[in-house]
Amino acid sequence: MNSLEQLVVSAQADFIAAADAAALENAKAKYLGKTGQITELMKALGKLDPDARKAQGALINAVKVQIEDALTARRDALADAQMQERLNGEVIDVSLPGRGRATGGIHPVMRSWERIEEIFRSIGFDVADGPEIENDWTNFTALNSPENHPARSMQDTFYVDGSDSQGKPLLLRTHTSPMQVRYARTHTPPIKVIAPGRTYRVDSDATHSPMFHQVEGLWIAEDISFADLKGVYLNFVKAFFETDDLQVRFRPSYFPFTEPSAEIDIAFGSGPLKGRWLEVSGAGQVHPTVVRNFGLDPEKFIGFAFGSGIERLTMLRYGISDLRLFYEGDLRFLKQFN
Ligand code: FA5
Ligand code: MG
Repeated sequence: MNSLEQLVVSAQADFIAAADAAALENAKAKYLGKTGQITELMKALGKLDPDARKAQGALINAVKVQIEDALTARRDALADAQMQERLNGEVIDVSLPGRGRATGGIHPVMRSWERIEEIFRSIGFDVADGPEIENDWTNFTALNSPENHPARSMQDTFYVDGSDSQGKPLLLRTHTSPMQVRYARTHTPPIKVIAPGRTYRVDSDATHSPMFHQVEGLWIAEDISFADLKGVYLNFVKAFFETDDLQVRFRPSYFPFTEPSAEIDIAFGSGPLKGRWLEVSGAGQVHPTVVRNFGLDPEKFIGFAFGSGIERLTMLRYGISDLRLFYEGDLRFLKQFN
């Protein structure tokens, strides 16, 4: 074996011995690097006379090609081995039962909220959204609630730090009724809107939660009467409870922002609650002072408003007796709705 053949054999051996890419690069340098053996042989060609240079050059080139082939082969082999190792590491046993992924569900109160929007949208109501931090004027004064109204007291209302431009305290809205004012002042009649959302009161028992949901309804035009309220609300509860076997009663009541005012009660004709009158909402003909605060002439515009508790509607729909179940986060309870 001449020295050139020897060189090829030793390069092949060195390459095979290289256990990884870095070792292989080192081995390559030994032959093909700036001071590698092949490179040195090339440099030495310059000292030969032209004929010898040509013959020797061709031989060295052939050797160089062989060494480069060996290098490429080893590179590919190392890359394959690395890939194989990765694949082996990622191997999955498809016969194992899956761990599954817990799916979230829609909270029963949100389910009602969505249904309410759908039902009222279907009869032409707009859906509006507004701030949960309100000012005193919009939550109380514009709604004709007197300064000494008990809902304003420190016991009923959550006040928050800070005050409005009148220096009055800011508060968490105690009902969705301020949305009547916000919406009516920024739209022109006919006004036909619902405003569902969160409301807050210092309240806590089986039927009262400090945070709860209401849906406000407002329809104001030149000729909207209490009869329209009855029709709209009856249509709503029949759609919401998915039964025609149900009665609605308007029981005289008092709200400063409506005159006359009523509590709306419903009674199912069948089922576990059959025959019992259940309160679902406050309602009434919007008070002329409130219509004026909408920026409208009460001689010309008239209509109704209602404000219903969404937890209450949800409890009746599903037969839930304690409202606190909604907010305890107990999956055994929540899973029943999904
Ligand atoms: C009002 O809040 C009036 N704004 C409703 C209204 C609107 C009347 C428009 C006339 C015209 P009331 O305080 O009764 O009314 O509350 C309405 C409903 O909210 C109640 O029937 C009840 O279902 C629900 N609700 C009130 N407080 C709570 C509470 N702490 N937790 C859960 N639901 C509540
Ligand atoms: Mg009430």
